[in-house]
Amino acid sequence: MKGMIMKKLIAGNWKMNGNETGAIDLAQDITSGLSSDPSLNQYCDFLVCPPFIHLAAVREILKSGQSIMLGAQDCTSHENGAYTGDISANMLKDFGCAQVILGHSERRTFHRESSELVAEKAAMAHQYGLTAIICVGEDEHEREKKQHEKVVAEQLEKSLPASATSKNTVIAYEPVWAIGSGKTASPLDIEEMHRFIRDELQEKLENSEGLRILYGGSVKPGNAREIFAIDNVHGALIGGASLKANDYLAIAQAAVPEEFLKQVNM
Ligand code: PGA
Repeated sequence: MKGMIMKKLIAGNWKMNGNETGAIDLAQDITSGLSSDPSLNQYCDFLVCPPFIHLAAVREILKSGQSIMLGAQDCTSHENGAYTGDISANMLKDFGCAQVILGHSERRTFHRESSELVAEKAAMAHQYGLTAIICVGEDEHEREKKQHEKVVAEQLEKSLPASATSKNTVIAYEPVWAIGSGKTASPLDIEEMHRFIRDELQEKLENSEGLRILYGGSVKPGNAREIFAIDNVHGALIGGASLKANDYLAIAQAAVPEEFLKQVNM
C-alpha cells in the first residue's frame, strides 16, 4: 500500500507449548527486552497468544507497563451456554484479550474447521470487540498445481464475515507447507500473494486499505528483514521463533529501518 505507513504487527503464536513457568519466563524476557529498546514500539505493535491456560499468568507480566497485547489462539462461534471445553469471544474480551487467531491451518486440519465456521467465530469476535486474525493459505499440493490463488480467494470469500472491517480484522497468509517446516515462501511468492489478497479485499470490503496482511510460515530473525521489505506485508504471525524472546525481539528489530537500529540488550 503506497503512501501509508503502518506499524508492523509482531504476533507470537505460542501454540500448545510449554508450562506456566516457561510462559512467565518468556513473557518476562520479552517485556524486559522491549523496555531496553522502547524505540521498537515506534515501528511495531506487539501481540502474544499463549495457550488459554497460560493467559492469566502472562496477563500478570504484561500488566507491568509494556504495550504488548494479549491474544488467544481460538474462540467458539457460540455466545455462551452448554459448550463443554469451549471459550467464548465474550470471555476473552472480558479477560483482557485484544485479538484472537482464527482459522489457523492446524485448526482447519486437526479440528476440521471450515471457512464457514471461521466466519461465524470471527463474527462473534467482532461482536465483542476483538480483532480477528483470520488465517488463509494453500497446502503444498495446491501450490504445485498452481491453485494457490484460487484456494486463498475461496478461503477469503467464505471466512470473512459481513462484520469485517480494516479495523477489526487482520489477514494472515500462511502457506501450510511453510509452517514449522523451515521452508519459507520466496519473496516473489509472498509479494504476489499479498498483492492478490489486497486486491481481493478491495473488492470485498469498503475502505480495505488499512487492513493488515501478515505473513506466517518459518519467519525467523534471518529472513524477517527481507520479508518485511515486501509490499503489502504488515507484520508476521510467528510460531516457533516466538518461543524464544531473543528471536521474537530480533524479528521486531527487522521492522526498524537499518539506520535507526539499536542493539537490544537482553
Ligand atoms: P512457524 O508457525 O513460525 O513455526 O512456521 C507459524 C504459524 O503457524 O503461525
